[in-house]
Amino acid sequence: MKKYFFPADSKKRKTGIRLAGIALTALLLVSAFAWSAGLIGQRNTTRTFLENTPDSFPAGYRRAHGKGICFEGTFHASGNAVPLSIAQVFGQKDVPAVGRFSLGTGNPHAPDNSSRTVSMALMLTSADGEQWRMKLNNKPFFGTRDAVGFLKQIEAFKPDPTTGKPNPEKVAAFLKEYPEAKKSMEYDAKAPWTKSFAGSEYYVINAFLLIDSNGKEHPVRWSMRPHASFVSMSAEERKKAGPNYLFDELKKRLEKAPLYWDLVLTIAEPGDPVNDPSQQWPANRKQIIAGTLEVNRVFDQAEGGCRDINFDPTLVPKGIALSDDPVLAARAGIYSHSYNDRVREIGYGKATDAVGKPKKDNSQNK
Ligand code: HEM
Repeated sequence: MKKYFFPADSKKRKTGIRLAGIALTALLLVSAFAWSAGLIGQRNTTRTFLENTPDSFPAGYRRAHGKGICFEGTFHASGNAVPLSIAQVFGQKDVPAVGRFSLGTGNPHAPDNSSRTVSMALMLTSADGEQWRMKLNNKPFFGTRDAVGFLKQIEAFKPDPTTGKPNPEKVAAFLKEYPEAKKSMEYDAKAPWTKSFAGSEYYVINAFLLIDSNGKEHPVRWSMRPHASFVSMSAEERKKAGPNYLFDELKKRLEKAPLYWDLVLTIAEPGDPVNDPSQQWPANRKQIIAGTLEVNRVFDQAEGGCRDINFDPTLVPKGIALSDDPVLAARAGIYSHSYNDRVREIGYGKATDAVGKPKKDNSQNK
């Protein structure tokens, strides 16, 4: 008879312990995945930023900046940024450009006087096939130093059901944690509203790094500075204006002539915060005009030219790198959820006016 070192029941016990160990490890792994995906616990994930939006916005539209118009044009590089970055886009005379002008409001049918924020999204594709995608707003800085601050601000300013107004204690607690938001609130209360997409300057807000031919990094931010003049619009004028005054005015201008914006790079100096989008850099920083964007024509976003693009600002060409700005990092995930949700709705035939076609039901293909 074969001799065992351990008695038979001891061997069974060992096998049992091993199986329990494997099961525990599997459980821990599943729990860790579920926690990181925000499925268990009270954790904020990039999904949290889109909570409730699928119900409150029509299918197929962006979960923010829903009202927009596509554009096409060309970026003409000046060559001035070539010493700072090996990205081919800075040395190419004519780079095809696709973009989108939008209103800050989420609702794609909101009247143009519903938001002070106007925006430009842009994708430049250089001859080497590298793409540079970006989103820019007419406000030059972000309200809070990190993305969770954005959520906390929304929460703090939610009207109290009993008074219909924000709860002052919640607002005070938020401002204690995010004192930088005060500056942003003052800006929002005072900043002028624009009469035109054409005369607005658009800011990238987050910092990026340009990489030169020696591998040296140059922290920068940039803006698209219009050749057209800025004209402000009073509250009285906004009240009287038609629901699409910004989009109508843009179309009229482009029927007559192209529109131009200079791509202005602002170079940081040592000590300038590159990981805090709520802090602007001093006004005297060196600026370089890297080139000029020429916008030639606009077309309905339902046609798809810009509709099905995720202008994710973390998609940068070789020669441009991301800074460690936490808001920039969070945005990649948020935009990808919004993009996936809206494209899925279009794919399943759930979107109606977002694609300019009658509703069809593809849900059986799910
Ligand atoms: C935590 C902060 C932010 C959140 C939660 C957020 C959320 C969103 C979402 C969900 C979209 C729709 C994206 C899509 O479906 O393609 C969007 C679009 C946009 N966002 Fe943000 N965003 C944030 C920060 C910023 C910042 C800092 C900027 C400044 C440059 C910005 C500029 C834009 C622009 C211009 C669009 C419209 C893009 C287009 O036309 O495709 N966002 N945002």
